[in-house]
Amino acid sequence: MPSVWKRKDLVGLKDLTAEEIQLLLDTAKSLQQVSLRPVKKVPTLRGRTVANLFFEPSTRTRISFELAEKRLSADTIQFTGSNSSAVKGENLKDTVRNIEALKVDLIVMRHFSSGAPHRLAQSLPVSVVNAGDGINEHPTQALLDMFTIREKKGTLSGIQVAFVGDILHSRVARSNIWGLTKLGAKVTVCAPKTLLPAGIETFGVRVTSSLEEAIRDADVINLLRIQTERQDECYFPSIREYANNYQINSEILKRAKPDVLIMHPGPVNRGIELSSEVMDGPYSVILDQVTNGLAVRMAVLYLLSGTRRGGRKVNGS
Ligand code: CP
Repeated sequence: MPSVWKRKDLVGLKDLTAEEIQLLLDTAKSLQQVSLRPVKKVPTLRGRTVANLFFEPSTRTRISFELAEKRLSADTIQFTGSNSSAVKGENLKDTVRNIEALKVDLIVMRHFSSGAPHRLAQSLPVSVVNAGDGINEHPTQALLDMFTIREKKGTLSGIQVAFVGDILHSRVARSNIWGLTKLGAKVTVCAPKTLLPAGIETFGVRVTSSLEEAIRDADVINLLRIQTERQDECYFPSIREYANNYQINSEILKRAKPDVLIMHPGPVNRGIELSSEVMDGPYSVILDQVTNGLAVRMAVLYLLSGTRRGGRKVNGS
């Protein structure tokens, strides 16, 4: 495993090696204990400035990055597209040039266009972290999902993970597929045929439209929200019919393994993809995912902030 992180940016998991993903997870593990101390702060990013640019709504990712930056003692700028001069017509390039003029060291960006963080990363000398781009990737979400599975199951190798829901529009599913398969997990995707991207089987996953088949041998079921905000046509007759066929509830769960984990990246539409009873029940690790997101984002910021000085060394890896 490499002991030094060399990449300037984290734009996705597609191009990372298994060793790099492992390094991110192991670094998150070692940073997890910072949040358990009475003084939850380390000076690692003191004097560095991080700009959080969110052109799409976010609760978990935005506050998790902001807290991770504070825990590492960075100065931060919070930018939301809806409260900025973007609404007056300023384009992304000009917005970012203005932020760059303030001499920031690192940009965290969520954008509704697939590929926006990649273009930024290619054109700027500062590090760029993708906090979710269109339907393409959401690498830190996948890392925190993988971290949570590894924490609960002890390994990722050989673990069966079923994604159920709107696979077509899911950047979370795409990043998870890249990451999980590289670390030896077996992935199944399950959705009505209309919500499965063409050629998804070439990603090395099992594909089914049968919920029962997807969950039968799953160690983890990761539910995905129906993303109505990205849908410009009808993909199924009604939400009620979707819930009848694809909702995870107590009755369906009787057909899953007794130690199955229920995950969801959030936000959850209670009563659609997941019943309230299961969401708040003993199988659910949804809030553990949120907690682990902090350590994962601290690890990403920590590793990227070291690359301009020749790479961040990681103890014990
Ligand atoms: N999982 C996730 O990305 O949630 P937010 O949209 O609230 O950040």
